[in-house]
Amino acid sequence: MPPSKSPVARTVPALRRALAPWRRGGIALVPTMGALHAGHIALVRAAKKRARHVVVSIFVNPTQFAANEDFGSYPRTFTGDLKALSAEKVDLVWAPSAAVMYPEGFATRIEPAGPAKAGLEDAFRPHFFGGVATVVAKLLLQCQPDVAMFGEKDYQQLQVVTQLARDLDQPVKIVGCPTVREKDGLALSSRNVYLTTAERAVAPVLHRTLKDCAAAIRKGGAIAECLAAGRETIAMAGFAVDYLEARHARTLAPVASRDDGPIRLLVAARIGTTRLIDNLGV
Ligand code: PAJ
Repeated sequence: MPPSKSPVARTVPALRRALAPWRRGGIALVPTMGALHAGHIALVRAAKKRARHVVVSIFVNPTQFAANEDFGSYPRTFTGDLKALSAEKVDLVWAPSAAVMYPEGFATRIEPAGPAKAGLEDAFRPHFFGGVATVVAKLLLQCQPDVAMFGEKDYQQLQVVTQLARDLDQPVKIVGCPTVREKDGLALSSRNVYLTTAERAVAPVLHRTLKDCAAAIRKGGAIAECLAAGRETIAMAGFAVDYLEARHARTLAPVASRDDGPIRLLVAARIGTTRLIDNLGV
């Protein structure tokens, strides 16, 4: 027998009505933009372990896309997403329209600093974290979950959201979940569907290079040299490298050596029309 469909809330009052009886048992929120893959489903499963009820939001947030980015063409697969979430027995899908999330006259925007100004994604997508912070703040206030799950795949975003929840005194635990990868190491992403066959074949170079850099740094290699070699490898594979950096794993401040604290390597690179990001702990 097919699983019964997870209910869908499309307005804030409907969301509140659905959530009210679940407060005692605990609520976990998994924010997404849909086009769900095994990485998102891993967040759902981790959420289930932490709260009695799981809410997944699906909202392709226009305010985090710049005019030249892929908002219009971002994959939208709501029917399939709902089927996958129903199979996971998700208690509620929160799927507001843009008009519900940003009604006529909407005039508030959150401008995050700290990890949102680390000179990583923010340097290439200056509008991005303002849009993410605003929508995540709204999602947290709308749902008031006990825990909210975010992927390490978007490592800077995870730090920005953690800082936001703390700064706004949100009574929520932000939980980071490990990156789910293809067998060849490529991090799952809704944007991987943009890759041509040839681009898909070279894409694992990102993860491979992160692993090689991490190993070299662990062996005592000079960070700047390891990163320079890594950038070269990625460029040789056909990518234009936006950045490959070693940062403090929590503050995202630059690090010169392993004495500066736990290190996270972060990369962003473009191939054809697709921009991919990845990261790894040292
Ligand atoms: P989206 O790209 O749909 O990702 C939703 C969540 O899934 C994020 O927390 C992301 O880090 C996580 N995720 C994506 N790929 C993953 C993978 N391979 N392994 C583990 N987790 C993965 O990130 C967003 O949406 C938006 O910015 C959002 C937070 C929803 C705000 O609009």
